Amino acid sequence: MFAQCVIRLCGCCGRASAFSGIAPLAAVIGNQCLVERASVGTLSRRTVGWQCRNSKVKSVSFWGLRGGSGTTSTVAMVGEALHALGESVLMVDVNPSDVLRLHFNVDYGGQNGWALALAQATPWQDEGFVLEENMWLLPYGRHGLNSIEALATPLDQSDEFWCEALRRLDGQFSWVLFDLPAGGSAYPKLRATSGLDIMVTSVDTGCHILLLQHEIAATTRILINAYDPSRALCNDLLLEWRHRYQAHLLPVYIHRDEGVHEALAQKTPVSRCYPDCAASRDALSLATWLLAQKKAAS
Ligand SMILES: Nc1ncnc2c1ncn2[C@@H]1O[C@H](COP(=O)(O)OP(=O)(O)OP(=O)(O)O)[C@@H](O)[C@H]1O
Ligand SMILES: [Mg+2]
Repeated sequence: MFAQCVIRLCGCCGRASAFSGIAPLAAVIGNQCLVERASVGTLSRRTVGWQCRNSKVKSVSFWGLRGGSGTTSTVAMVGEALHALGESVLMVDVNPSDVLRLHFNVDYGGQNGWALALAQATPWQDEGFVLEENMWLLPYGRHGLNSIEALATPLDQSDEFWCEALRRLDGQFSWVLFDLPAGGSAYPKLRATSGLDIMVTSVDTGCHILLLQHEIAATTRILINAYDPSRALCNDLLLEWRHRYQAHLLPVYIHRDEGVHEALAQKTPVSRCYPDCAASRDALSLATWLLAQKKAAS
């Protein structure tokens, strides 16, 4: 049994409001697809025409080369952009900092989260938030974890846990986006299982040095964040990286944009808050590129 708080973001101002009516995440992870279950209820027939319903879920692991690279902001804006393109998206925060929820105005002090469920051996499907039709968030559950004394399941099994959970999610969502801790050492199996493994890197000298030290796996792609074309150093590094890491670089990068800061202050993804700003457009480009990859693979 769970006490599910469900959040809806206003289309005009992005403010969140609690409401009930749309099925919680648990309804999606059963044997049946949510759209079939809910077609006579709150969800419209439009959702039944979900294009990717029978295709495999596409999972993407995002992690930062170092802390503060912009991973969580990227997951929030790309999730929002994919959703705006008509895709059904589940965002999962596997970073114990549990910050992704803040981008969607989900109470930071709230106890909900998959890690809490794993630790208590309760269904993690009950811990999710329906942000909008076809858009879900599964927080980590940092505060819930802190509130319990003994773990029924050790959290060092989280990597296997998510690889297995991904298999169960097959066909239930178009996309599952994971927000991983920085550094790349956590969740090696999940990263290898994901359709795409994306390292988020900001364009600065510190990241340049870290990149030189980092052994980049053949399948890892680099997403450049916080690119500022007005700074000569940024342009120089970009040139250098194009030369060095050509095979790994994603064709889209995200500009440094004050809107990203502002959006977090408003607890709303930037693509929704400021849809015309540079970072929102970049996120849309990245989402479009992801869709193209998906089509090419199917
Ligand atoms: N493209 C950008 N333009 C401007 N600010 C950005 C950009 N991307 C991220 N930021 C800002 O940088 C800060 C860190 O971003 P974020 O929390 O997404 O990083 P992170 O990699 O998830 O950090 P952590 O490693 O702690 O999880 C935030 O204040 C965010 O608003
Ligand atoms: Mg983060």
